Amino acid sequence: MRGRTAIATTILFVVIICLFISAPKSWRTGASPPSVTGHYPYVKPSPLPWNPPSSKEPSGEAQADRLIVKVMLEDEDALWIDSLFPTWRKELVTIDKRFSKLHKGGNRVDKGRIASHYLIWIIENYKNLPETVVFLPPDQHTQQTSQSVIWTSSGSNLKTNISNLQIAFIQSSGFANLHCPTPSRCADLILPFRSPPNEFRTLEVAMPKVWQGIFGNTTVPEQLATAPGAEFAVSKTQVQKRSLDEYLKFWTWLHRTPMDDDTAGLVFEHLWHVIFGRDAVFCPEEKQCECEVYGKC
Ligand SMILES: *[C@@H]1O[C@H](CO)[C@@H](O)[C@H](O)[C@H]1NC(C)=O
Ligand SMILES: *[C@@H]1O[C@H](CO)[C@@H](O)[C@H](O)[C@H]1NC(C)=O
Repeated sequence: MRGRTAIATTILFVVIICLFISAPKSWRTGASPPSVTGHYPYVKPSPLPWNPPSSKEPSGEAQADRLIVKVMLEDEDALWIDSLFPTWRKELVTIDKRFSKLHKGGNRVDKGRIASHYLIWIIENYKNLPETVVFLPPDQHTQQTSQSVIWTSSGSNLKTNISNLQIAFIQSSGFANLHCPTPSRCADLILPFRSPPNEFRTLEVAMPKVWQGIFGNTTVPEQLATAPGAEFAVSKTQVQKRSLDEYLKFWTWLHRTPMDDDTAGLVFEHLWHVIFGRDAVFCPEEKQCECEVYGKC
């Protein structure tokens, strides 16, 4: 009797183990959390499904002369852009509000998603570009209440800036950051070859590899600097100085890198000016910038 019970117990035990091994992974780990790439808790980007953006064919219609591409959150108020119509047309790209809280307790928008949407927009519209495009990220001026994040608008400021934008300058120079940085704001030099390396400057430490991954060459500059942020204007001619394939390569890097989305997006904030043909250190003097970019001379 005892022996039989022992055999039965052993068989049952083996069966349970077999079931356990063959079970889908989610059974073992309990209910799997919704795995949203880049969302808190951080989930490594999954290469599948792999849906790279592709370029739309030339529409044949006349393209807007000036366009604002605004990446925004669902409940952001972007109505202010309409008051710039008809001089400026707009295209709104709405991103999921969850990414405004990438980090627990944080209230920033995931930068990788912003960079991704800029790149997707460029790739899709590469053959239908307006003469001048202004890229704007979600409004970063936030207040956190106990319940939610309130997005306060800095639109009035931007509206004035955009209506003062010196289009002739954008057309001749190709690219301008909408921020005219005070010298201190542009002083944060990224030194990819700092010796000894400062491990706390993660972006800097990662830069040589990142540069190679993005641009595919190893001539990493000794110094990189620009005004922080992702608000800039660029001309069609400048965008098209790079091929569609290059933008696709940038997008692919962003989606394949094991870096968290926020840092990967930050990489682009430090490289847009290089992507659009400016020197690695791009810090025009404040007065000169206000004169050239906004006509305040
Ligand atoms: C608006 O323009 C001023 C210069 O006239 C500049 O200092 C400021 O950073 C700009 N603001 C934005 C949001 O681009
Ligand atoms: C490497 O890529 C950067 C960015 O596109 C470019 O500015 C630089 O000229 C390239 N260097 C070489 C040697 O191709």
